[in-house]
Amino acid sequence: MEIVLSGIRPTGHLHLGNYFGAMKSFLQLQEEYACFFFIADWHSLTTHPRPGNIVGSVREIIAEYLACGLDPEKVAIYVQSDVKEVLELYLYLNMNAYLGELERTTTFKEKARQQPDNVNAGLLTYPTLMAADILLHRARKVPVGKDQEQNMEMARRFARRFNTTYECELFPEPESFTFSRSAIKIPGLDGSGKMGKSEGNALYLVDDATTIRKKVMKAVTDNGPTEPNSTKPEVIQNLFTILEVVSAPEVYDHFNEQYNRCAIRYGDLKKQLAEDIVAFCTPIRERILEYASDATRIDKVAAQGADKARESASRTLREVRRTIGFRS
Ligand code: TYM
Repeated sequence: MEIVLSGIRPTGHLHLGNYFGAMKSFLQLQEEYACFFFIADWHSLTTHPRPGNIVGSVREIIAEYLACGLDPEKVAIYVQSDVKEVLELYLYLNMNAYLGELERTTTFKEKARQQPDNVNAGLLTYPTLMAADILLHRARKVPVGKDQEQNMEMARRFARRFNTTYECELFPEPESFTFSRSAIKIPGLDGSGKMGKSEGNALYLVDDATTIRKKVMKAVTDNGPTEPNSTKPEVIQNLFTILEVVSAPEVYDHFNEQYNRCAIRYGDLKKQLAEDIVAFCTPIRERILEYASDATRIDKVAAQGADKARESASRTLREVRRTIGFRS
């Protein structure tokens, strides 16, 4: 059976970017495939060396996963640090990962610029740990947003390299999966590129209606189009991109047409967008609060998930060791 895997760093609550970039695609696959969804707590150490209440953040994320509709009976929901096998695979992959290619990764260069006093080896080898997460279960489909494309390309390269080096077919090449036509990037509403926790511009699934309305009404706009059918500048395109994923197609078409006729009123667009986001988030928020109040249940989900993940991981590791030449 084809394996699906995806993950998230526990550095904050789930936002609309996480949902539409990865979660929505994953929800579609959980019915048909053997699925793993994990929380990349070790990965978060590359940027947050003292993560604070990591157990609390992990529980929050699991509550949010469940609230989105992940079914722990169908999906193994687990915490990366509960499945130590990934470290062994990370080590083997690192032996065949080259300094030059790791240094050239865009995310490494970006993070090195953002945190010049902490350009650590974990940051450099982030793509190998991510490849190990995926190859640990020999996953073929990986629901991720557009920002993960380079990491996915590295994972495919490491899979191919392992197979070539050891003359085997052990690892399939994992492909990015998305429910839409192409990979998704949900923008922030502050005029900057992507919506993200560290960018400080995120709309969280757990946000209440007042917070959502406030955030959306503050979104950056311009003076409006002066020529019919003109190309939308980035700040306006950002609003339309979010409208496209949360609102009904008629709503999107209505505002798009108004824009094309130079008759758009951004106040109306923002009000509608805010209400559609509130309608989308409110039931999820209610479920998050319910799940989050039951730590015992959450810990049980994580323990169950870790058992399933360890079983699959140790099967892969047995073959990896044998292939490289270690005693199994
Ligand atoms: P992370 O924690 O940054 O984000 C989790 C998932 O959400 C997607 N995402 C977005 N998609 C569209 N628009 C956005 N604005 C947006 N922001 C976040 C990400 O693409 C991701 O799918 N390296 C990963 C975590 C990870 C992982 C893995 C993922 C570690 N190992 C193995 C898949 C497979 C990360 O930092 O995601």
